[in-house]
Amino acid sequence: MNIIILGAPGSGKGTQAELIAKNFNLKHISGGESLRKEVESGTPKGQLIGHIMQSGELVPFATISSVIEPVILENKNNFILDGTPRDLSQAEYLDAFFTENKIVIDYIFYLYVPEEKLIARLLKRAKLENRADDSEESIKERFTVFHNETEPVIAYYKTRQVFKQIDGDRTVEDIATDLRNIIGKTL
Ligand code: AP5
Ligand code: MG
Repeated sequence: MNIIILGAPGSGKGTQAELIAKNFNLKHISGGESLRKEVESGTPKGQLIGHIMQSGELVPFATISSVIEPVILENKNNFILDGTPRDLSQAEYLDAFFTENKIVIDYIFYLYVPEEKLIARLLKRAKLENRADDSEESIKERFTVFHNETEPVIAYYKTRQVFKQIDGDRTVEDIATDLRNIIGKTL
């Protein structure tokens, strides 16, 4: 079972990916989480990545792909990829990478939540946690990047049979049940 989960900032990708990973024994692969680890390490590369993330922009794909590709290959038929691809060139690249490595994607989930609700979620998280890119300014830029770069990815996948748009504006439990039922049907 290989899954891709996409959605705007704050749509619940990480929350749902973690639950699915536990439920179906999949490896949760998040580009954003890997980057935050690199930032924490405090290396010069980590500092540079930290600046880019804080601005709300995308980091160079080579940085992400060098980290996630080996993990994908180690977990070839048991992964959930959270938040990648982020733009069309990443989507095209990943298609080629999956074909080359005989990896089949069983589901592409797109969590849809109206933007005003997402902004409220992220501002709430900003008060509770300390994510450097949850400032008002960064959030604004993350949404601009989502509209300009990532929405075309949704359009690119939309006609595929494995693509499923999910109403992400429900409780965590309701969404998780929905996803579990969809995935469970094909097991
Ligand atoms: P990334 O870490 O992927 O961040 P994001 O897309 O901005 O999304 P978040 O992680 O903030 O939200 P989420 O959708 O995971 O939701 P969550 O479950 O946390 O990327 C960060 C940065 O890394 C990017 O800006 C970019 O710079 C870089 N990057 C990453 N991948 C890249 C790539 N491929 N190429 C280039 N650059 C890349 O939930 C959000 C909040 O809402 C939480 O507080 C949660 O508790 C709450 N919540 C969750 N579900 C619900 C619900 N159903 N109802 C109410 N609240 C909920
Ligand atoms: Mg996340």
